[in-house]
Amino acid sequence: MFSKYKKPGGDKPSGTPALKSIDGGAAPVETASIDNAVKRKPSQSAKSSAQAGPVDKERKRKERLSEIKLELHKRLLENLNLGALETAAEADLRAEIVAISGEALEEMGVVLNREERATLNQDLYDEVTGLGPLEPLLKDDSVNDILVNGPQQVFVERAGKLELTDTTFKDERHLLRIIDKIVSAVGRRVDESNPYVDARLKDGSRFNAMVPPIAVDGSLVSIRKFKKEKLAIDDLVRFGAFTEEMAAYLQAAVACRLNVIVSGGTGSGKTTTLNALSSFIDNSERILTIEDTAELQLQQTHVGRMESRPANVEGKGAVSQRDCLKNALRMRPDRIIVGETRGEEVIDMLQAMNTGHDGSMTTIHANSARDGVSRLENMIAMAGIEMPIKAVRSQIASAVNLIVQASRLQDGSRRMTSITEVTGMEGDVISMQEVFRYQRVGLTPDNKIIGHFTATGIRSAYSERFRMWGYDLPSNIFEPFAAE
Ligand SMILES: Nc1ncnc2c1ncn2[C@@H]1O[C@H](COP(=O)(O)OP(=O)(O)OP(=O)(O)O)[C@@H](O)[C@H]1O
Ligand SMILES: [Mg+2]
Repeated sequence: MFSKYKKPGGDKPSGTPALKSIDGGAAPVETASIDNAVKRKPSQSAKSSAQAGPVDKERKRKERLSEIKLELHKRLLENLNLGALETAAEADLRAEIVAISGEALEEMGVVLNREERATLNQDLYDEVTGLGPLEPLLKDDSVNDILVNGPQQVFVERAGKLELTDTTFKDERHLLRIIDKIVSAVGRRVDESNPYVDARLKDGSRFNAMVPPIAVDGSLVSIRKFKKEKLAIDDLVRFGAFTEEMAAYLQAAVACRLNVIVSGGTGSGKTTTLNALSSFIDNSERILTIEDTAELQLQQTHVGRMESRPANVEGKGAVSQRDCLKNALRMRPDRIIVGETRGEEVIDMLQAMNTGHDGSMTTIHANSARDGVSRLENMIAMAGIEMPIKAVRSQIASAVNLIVQASRLQDGSRRMTSITEVTGMEGDVISMQEVFRYQRVGLTPDNKIIGHFTATGIRSAYSERFRMWGYDLPSNIFEPFAAE
């Protein structure tokens, strides 16, 4: 078949069609639908399908449709002349997709009804005009991060573990074309003179790219996927990120307006924890959020969201997190939430925490509570504030009440490994007490960490405050874990 978007000689897709066997090779009949394709599965699944209820059938049908879509998308990428896509008129491209997918479906022995076919073609159109080989990974809900190291190597993170995929780009030009498409859609540019960019995708995912020559072996892309369904406190308890007792403690802490810092390494779950903690804020409060890339999804009614902006190509128009924070203070906030404190905005954050905006929250990049405090000190020093160290520390000690440590452990699990209260100053040193911790006890043969959460036995320094605010936590939640 002739096609102006088709690669020359790309008519017949190479390789055995992966889905053919699922249909059992039966000749398609005009009225057969995707349901029939499921029914015609080999004996074992046919049996379970016969017993399956309508919900199960619907789920299987959806699974099957998405399998077919993935396969067709792969074929479209093989067959379409990607260069010609830039200038293609929408109607032409749609017609082309209908033709190529029709041919491929016929070859695969899959017959869809009109509605299914229309949905499928629309999805395929979105994918072709979308992010190419990255699209299936973006749509795969089990993937958290996508990491591209040049055109031939794409890693994903699933359940806390990195794995190499068989996704590749045709060449560096193909990869650059996708990067360009992403950044131009958000009004940014990336090229030799402007070789890296941070952006937010249309679906909310966080995107970073660095192109050659700074990226030596081909463009580097990192995507933190946006999850529509953010993990809530219940989910995190269920996944073993912390216990119900710790959740009850955190609820009291947030509701009683303690200033909370979530500390953790990269990808350890800081933003997720911050988001989940925010659910304990009362719905009547006015909350302002400030982020470099808007990721937080607060459930309350009264939320003002801000996103900082880097300078444009002429070096103008930058609005920093600090600018947003200063402005936020004039916007009558009850609480301020800064997605991640990493620079000069630390001063304003601490001041806000100290001066009537208690109950504020942020995250920092640090490996322990003590380390987190040193990070804050360093940030203050780097912001050019000349203050005696003791004054800096007492500013931190009076601003920060609680440091929650998030960690990604070596087996990929993400846990809240410590909850530490900041209790004041002793001489020149900030005093802290750990209230809960994750105690590791060993490793299973397949490298899963064995451990448990425990209270340290220290009673919270805020117990009285909790009680005054109506949160009478049972004293046994502060008792250490008793081994059976
Ligand atoms: N307890 C958990 N169990 C399972 N998945 C989790 C857990 N916490 C976070 N995640 C997932 O891990 C990924 C990284 O989480 P998150 O964005 O919160 O990390 P982060 O520490 O803020 O990362 P960064 O340093 O890049 O900002 C997300 O996809 C999130 O859904
Ligand atoms: Mg984060």
